Amino acid sequence: MPELANKRIVLGLTGGIACYKVAEYVRRAQDEGATIDVVMTEAATRFITPVTLQALSGRPVWLDAWDTRAHNNMAHINLTRGADAVVIAPASTDFIAKLAHGLADDLLSTLCVARGSCPLLIAPAMNREMWLHPATQRNVAQVQADGARLLGPAEGDQACGETGSGRMLEPHELLAETIAFFQPKVLAGTRVLITAGPTSEAIDPVRVITNRSSGKMGYAIARAAHEAGATVTLVSGPTALDAPYGVHRINVQSARDMHQAVMAQAPHADVFISVAAVADWHVSNASPVKLKKTADSLAPQLEFAPNPDILADVAALPNGPYCVGFAAETDNLIKHADQKRKRKGVPLLVGNLVQHAMDSDTTELTLFSDSGQVSLSPAPKLTAARQLVDAIATGLQRSATNR
Ligand code: C5P
Repeated sequence: MPELANKRIVLGLTGGIACYKVAEYVRRAQDEGATIDVVMTEAATRFITPVTLQALSGRPVWLDAWDTRAHNNMAHINLTRGADAVVIAPASTDFIAKLAHGLADDLLSTLCVARGSCPLLIAPAMNREMWLHPATQRNVAQVQADGARLLGPAEGDQACGETGSGRMLEPHELLAETIAFFQPKVLAGTRVLITAGPTSEAIDPVRVITNRSSGKMGYAIARAAHEAGATVTLVSGPTALDAPYGVHRINVQSARDMHQAVMAQAPHADVFISVAAVADWHVSNASPVKLKKTADSLAPQLEFAPNPDILADVAALPNGPYCVGFAAETDNLIKHADQKRKRKGVPLLVGNLVQHAMDSDTTELTLFSDSGQVSLSPAPKLTAARQLVDAIATGLQRSATNR
């Protein structure tokens, strides 16, 4: 099912060059099933035309508090009734100041004041000095205290040529944050540490031993945990994936690098989810220079030494996080996974068959815990990840009450 099916969003544009990004956001949000009613301030129409947004949203665009198209002439009331959220993107310095003071001198500011319990999400977009100005910071704090949720801003190059904080989120990030807003906040306030992807064990500076993990499951869990309100750190082996928005990623190569990064983070985590396909061995005689092909021997003799077991080491920490392991098996899933859970000493172990999961966008998970085993239906990895996050939240709560 599309992520925003049955959601009606009132999208407010205010004056800023980031208006150009919103055209793409409207398109993508519609692909996800959202119905979008666009409202623009006069300044916004200087940056992008109402025609563009009407064509993209397939609905009338609202500009004026005196618009006679509303049957009762009360567009400022009608638009938010039954809406699931008001999203202001871009939100200018001026508009945030108006929101902070409850000003209502045009259609968009009036409907924000008149919106009742309809949630308000704002995506600031401005020059870094405008963002950092004490008045802006005061106003942002005020609108948050009044219940608005802030989406961004991001740091980076700005249209004015300066670099810093105040850039509006990119369309795909804005979309991800809109989708995240509608997910239940079952992990609010928790810190989640996740490993994902393969590890890469050097043979020499150009050759490695790795495995077929794509990282998709771990990244989906990182996204689902962020959506659920957690602060997420993702320790990732080499993958081709972008870090999900809002997730702090630490890149590593070998299992030993991953072990070091995880052990530094684990004391600060409430939950540790070990999804990475960690190599069991590393090459102990890895060459510092590229090995040459020689006529007399087919290949050099590689020697192997065991890697640390990251999950077992975290599970053994005194007062450590709630630990979740993964078992990818090719056969006898139930027997192997249950044994692995006991051997690793973790309260929850997630089993899947390699042939159902590896490099695929879908998976079929079975959860093993003290209370038995639960099989989830085959599903896209993000759907499965959200169900797993739900189960982790329940397990975490149970373990807190048993302590
Ligand atoms: O022992 P096995 O590799 O089959 O166990 C799989 C689980 O243990 C996964 O959760 C994996 O991320 C974790 N693991 C680990 N460190 C290792 C090997 C596996 O954390 N060296």
